[in-house]
This record gives sequence, structure tokens and C-alpha cells, in this order.
Amino acid sequence: MPGLPLIIDCDPGVDDAIALLLALAAPDALEVLAITTVAGNVGGDLTARNACLVREIASRPDVPVFAGMERPLSREPVAADHFHGVSGLGDLPVPTPARGPEPLHAVDYLVETLRSRPSGEVTLALTGPMTNLAEAMRRAPDIIPRIRRVVAMGGARREGGNITASAEFNIFADPHAADEVVRSGVELALLGLDVTHQVTATEARRRKISELSGASAAAASRLLAFSAGTEARLGTGGPPPLHDPCVILALLDPGTFRFRPCALAIETSSPLTLGHTAVEYRVGPERPANADWAVDADSDRAFDLIYRLLGQAA
Ligand code: RIB
Ligand code: CA
Repeated sequence: MPGLPLIIDCDPGVDDAIALLLALAAPDALEVLAITTVAGNVGGDLTARNACLVREIASRPDVPVFAGMERPLSREPVAADHFHGVSGLGDLPVPTPARGPEPLHAVDYLVETLRSRPSGEVTLALTGPMTNLAEAMRRAPDIIPRIRRVVAMGGARREGGNITASAEFNIFADPHAADEVVRSGVELALLGLDVTHQVTATEARRRKISELSGASAAAASRLLAFSAGTEARLGTGGPPPLHDPCVILALLDPGTFRFRPCALAIETSSPLTLGHTAVEYRVGPERPANADWAVDADSDRAFDLIYRLLGQAA
């Protein structure tokens, strides 16, 4: 049975890189049509380069990379290189990749692919700001009903914010894009800090990954070691949460997470709460649900899958 046709839109980014390594290690389950990149953690030139480097580590030269939007739809750009290193890939070596991104812009690739593939076939995994998808929807609203589902990392309810008191980075980095995607009517599942903070790379889990062989496992181990350092210095002070890999884990093993339908809205104007995800579970005819919100994660089940994927990876 062919794998799930999937486009991964990302801003690598240490945890994006691990998410890509996991997805590229499961070719039977996920048919990764392409990786599209967006400015976020670091600039758009670096996220595109980094996606090309991760593709090489995973020995998946078959997966094209398309570089996308260099800045958010309207707000001033914000970055997270303090968490991801100036390269965006922690302390991994960052040589010039053997092959760079394709000449086609990521937004054009999204529009052309969603128009040419059968309607309802392609799933989009988003692990960065939603700028590329929102821009594609603006340019070609006809693609919206053709998208099978969007599974994204973003937002926070129970956990509060990680870039401001009330906003998570991906949504904060382009709140207008997130607002337009949420209001588009696309089928949307969102994995926010409420669950990613439950899927943490403890020392024991990092050691188990470090004992796996292969370039992907070695890269993941080094990326996690870097994350442990920055998380201790700048983050929660505990083991690093695996934010973006949760999107791939949810696609491969949905039972790892528990979701609740919600009426989701994005703050796009308040200077104090810009990018806040207002998650309302009290839905009904007057307030229809527009997203599935991840509320709990089985972290042991998540890591069992991570070990299996990295163990079988190149
Ligand atoms: O808040 C976590 C998200 O912001 C992740 O996608 C991470 O890569 C950063 O972009
Ligand atoms: Ca990311």
C-alpha cells in the first residue's frame, strides 16, 4: 500500500530537522512529495539550505526542496536562532549541500501540486510559521478544498507561550498567516505546547538514541544534545521538548495523541497577546469546531516510534 502523500513545510531548525529525519525514515508510510521551507527559526536562505542538508543526511536525494516566503505576511520578522544556533542546525557541520533547492518558489509548488494531484489526496505537515500555506491560499483559494488535511505544530493553551507569555513561536512569527489558515475551513489538527512539552528528550532517551547506528541517528543525537543545552539555558530548564517531531509522530501513529475538537481563533492585533491561540472547547451550531487540538501525548509510545524510525534510517 503506498504511503500517505505528504508535503512537509518547515523552518529547520533543530527540531524541524529531527522531524524531517523521522519522516524520511518511513518511506513506506509517508510518500514525502517535497519539503517546502519558510523563514522562521532562521532566515529563509538558511532554512532552505538546512532542509537540503537534512535530506542528504537521510540519504533521500529523491525528495525535492522548494524555498518559500522570506518574511511573514505583514508583521516584522522574528527569529529563534538563540534556540537553534546561527546556522539553524545547532552545532552540526553545515557544508554547502550537493544539491540546493529547486528554482520554483514553494508557494508556486504548493499551488501547482495541489491543483495537479487528485483532490483530497495531499496532506500538509507544517512545522514552522504558516506563511507559505497562507500565501498559497491567497493566490489560489481553489486549492483549499483540495487539501486532505493540515497537521501543524503551533499554539498553546494549558502551557502558556514560549516566545511571549501568551504565544507560541510558530503562531507568533506569523499570526496573520495562522489566522487565515484557521479561518480557511481546511481540516486542521494542531499540536501545540500542551502536548509537545509532554514529549521531552530526557537524558535516558537521548542516550538510547546515541546508541543507534546510522547518519540520521547520529545527527538526531547531536541535535538533541545541542537542544538540551539551549533548553537548560534559555527554555524550560528541563529536557528539550520535541515540538516538530510530534507532527510526524501524529501522522504515523495517531493514537500517540489525544485530540479534542475546538473553536480556534488567533490574536492578530493586541501587542500584548499577539499570536495567542484561543482554544474554545464549547462548540456547537452557534460556535462550530474548526480544528482538532492535541491535549495529551503518550511520550513512551512516541519515543518507541522515534527509536524504531531512527534505528531503520540511513
Ligand atoms: O514553538 C516551537 C516551534 O518554534 C517549533 O516549530 C520550533 O522549530 C520553532 O520554530
Ligand atoms: Ca519549526
